[in-house]
Amino acid sequence: MKVLVAGGAGYIGSHICVELLQANHEVIVIDDFSNSKPEVLGYIKDITGKDVKFYEFNILDEKKTEQVFIENEIDAVIHCAAFKAVGESVEKPIEYYTNNLTTTLIVAKMMKKYHVNNIVFSSSATVYGDEVVPLTEDCKLGETTNPYGASKAMMERILTDVQHACPEMSVTLLRYFNPIGAHESGLLGEDPKGIPNNLMPYIMKVAAGELPCLGVFGDDYDTPDGTGVRDYIHVVDLAKGHVKAIEYSAEHKGTEIFNLGTGVGYSVLDIVKAFEKANSIEIPYVIKPRRAGDIAECFADATKAKKILGWIAEKSLEDMCRDSWNWQSHNVNGYK
Ligand code: UFG
Repeated sequence: MKVLVAGGAGYIGSHICVELLQANHEVIVIDDFSNSKPEVLGYIKDITGKDVKFYEFNILDEKKTEQVFIENEIDAVIHCAAFKAVGESVEKPIEYYTNNLTTTLIVAKMMKKYHVNNIVFSSSATVYGDEVVPLTEDCKLGETTNPYGASKAMMERILTDVQHACPEMSVTLLRYFNPIGAHESGLLGEDPKGIPNNLMPYIMKVAAGELPCLGVFGDDYDTPDGTGVRDYIHVVDLAKGHVKAIEYSAEHKGTEIFNLGTGVGYSVLDIVKAFEKANSIEIPYVIKPRRAGDIAECFADATKAKKILGWIAEKSLEDMCRDSWNWQSHNVNGYK
């Protein structure tokens, strides 16, 4: 298939490109490098030996987006072009809603106009809010606590409604849990700007000696050790889930939702210990107050993806910790 990956130079998008190319699909990428670097494209080629066809602009530019649909006979779209920082979204709701919702509308409009009937969308477990775990795809959607989360829920709704109106379309909503890790080559990984907000990137800055110690946000949750529990998934497993999803949706019309998680929850302290063991590096930490908006536990019931897509997460927590550090230690200042 010829697959357009919107946001294909980002952390998750770049790993998706690698897996698509390795599964012999052709890849077209649109990315504005707002949260990624041009070097990524070279590394994708180093890993796969193949080129992606690349366009640099923001999908908000409707004319340029249309040109990509005119120039290429696109079979399917993987839409992962979105702003994604929870805290920043609270500060900049207008930018977040404008970017995330309008790009989704433009992609959907072009798909309709150029008869591209297959889309896989990067959604997030954040749409569940604080529901009872393990989360199944038919859990009712919860209250989102920030504009980023709300925009993901709205983007899901937009695509679901578009599919309703266009029954020939296939819409697959992938709800990601907590992607961590990096490509085992050490060439692709997460390169957050500034001081990281997420757990694994923060741990890596501590491991690298750039930050003195990790703050653990709360040890009084109703969890086995009192710290927050999440479903961490290796980014390569996540990317492989997209290949399965795009191949499945090429054969099936309608809207489907899949959780992409391992089905196992680990606490913050489990992650600290696993990182220390995998890499023989001590991670000093202090207990801090709970972070606003956090929930105690979030992990998937991942059986639907296994049953229907034939996908399961194969990599272990040790793989995630080792590959994260392999990337970080070889790219101390992120992408060169
Ligand atoms: N945590 C710390 N210290 C830190 C950072 C995080 O203790 O410095 C804790 C959090 O309190 C939480 C856990 O580590 O218990 C994971 O936090 P992250 O910030 O890494 O991830 P979240 O679960 O808060 O959010 C992530 C993504 C969201 C996405 C969500 C889906 O950042 O975009 O998973 O479940 F919506």
